[in-house]
Amino acid sequence: MIENVKFKLNGKSVALRIDSDRLLLWVLRTDLGLTGTKYGCGESYCGACTLLVDNEAVRSCQVAVKDVRGKHVVTIEGLAKNGDLHPVQKAFMEYDALQCGYCTPGMIMNAVAFLRKNPRPTSAQIIAAMDDNLCRCGAHNRIVQAIEAAAKEAKGGF
Ligand code: FES
Ligand code: FES
Repeated sequence: MIENVKFKLNGKSVALRIDSDRLLLWVLRTDLGLTGTKYGCGESYCGACTLLVDNEAVRSCQVAVKDVRGKHVVTIEGLAKNGDLHPVQKAFMEYDALQCGYCTPGMIMNAVAFLRKNPRPTSAQIIAAMDDNLCRCGAHNRIVQAIEAAAKEAKGGF
């Protein structure tokens, strides 16, 4: 159904006249040009499309744009503040926690949501939290190390 949908996106208000049943992933990528959020499986399996909706990690390949009406969506493009990368982004760079980088936005957004709830996690908790985000390049060990380092660096300040 074509209707008006308003929400906040990376801190700014967005008002769209749109088929509100369309998936958030494609509205972001195709209509709004935010291609940082990736399409992997389209079936809620890989986590490549993960972003934040009101601080919760959400798989945008499973969410209709009407379902974020009035909410705050944050994508990888909205994570840096005043030109400073988020501590998780910095740690991924420092620990070389990627190879092709395709899974990276989803990994980072999932890690940010997790660390906001659990700012001082154990390694086992990080592994469990990231278990459903898939990396075909096998960067998992470095990803876990990066998230551990980000947690130490931020000292609870997510
Ligand atoms: S593209 Fe959404 S979970 Fe794979
Ligand atoms: S770095 Fe290539 S899929 Fe994870």
